Amino acid sequence: MTGETAQGMSGCAQSIKMERYYRLHSHIYDYTRWSFLFGRKKIVGLTADFVKPCRILEIGCGTGANLSTLAKTFPEALITGIDISDSMLNKSRRQLEKYGARIELLNCNYNRPLGRGGYDLVLFSYTLTMINPGWQAALNAAIADLVPGGCMAVVDFHRGGTSWFSAWMGVNNVRMEGEVLPWLIQRFDPLFLSEPKAYCGLWQYFYFIGVKEP
Ligand SMILES: C[S@@+](CC[C@H](N)C(=O)[O-])C[C@H]1O[C@@H](n2cnc3c(N)ncnc32)[C@H](O)[C@@H]1O
Repeated sequence: MTGETAQGMSGCAQSIKMERYYRLHSHIYDYTRWSFLFGRKKIVGLTADFVKPCRILEIGCGTGANLSTLAKTFPEALITGIDISDSMLNKSRRQLEKYGARIELLNCNYNRPLGRGGYDLVLFSYTLTMINPGWQAALNAAIADLVPGGCMAVVDFHRGGTSWFSAWMGVNNVRMEGEVLPWLIQRFDPLFLSEPKAYCGLWQYFYFIGVKEP
């Protein structure tokens, strides 16, 4: 169920940064993230209103919670999860054993297309704001990996409500400058867009679902 692609690049700066962070955090990730990574189940549910995918790609799949939701929501689909952190992938692998070959896990720095032919749905869930620098390259890779008319689904932090909060998130490798959403709107035909506030405006996050133009 797992593999390493040519993009595996263990030892690149992003890989070292993420593994340093997640070596410890992977153990508490599933017990803590429900309190601030809002909308992860909802983005999958929303996506089901627009697409019935045969092949799905999640970039930065972490401990595998979304992969499991995707597998239940789209029981016919083949799913690929990519992550740059071995610690996170190890958690994912344990949680997803029951899905067997339906879910493939790859250790890879997603900075260029997989180039294996088209995916109908690509999901980024709280991944793009952690790819700094390089989130644009990841999105361009996803555009290339999507079939024409394929669906891009993103849930992520948008903006911090105060400068101290944004600075604190920066310490945790998250850049929340409101730059991802406008980029998406320019390059996809939007199907769904929303920018809710968390904790009375401590930060804003966003949902985006869009279609790659044919
Ligand atoms: C905040 S976690 C989100 C995990 C999961 N998607 C979720 O919603 O719970 C971000 C994940 O992105 C991964 N990641 C960061 N940069 C990456 C890159 N360049 N390529 C692939 N994965 C990356 C991290 O290792 C981490 O597991």
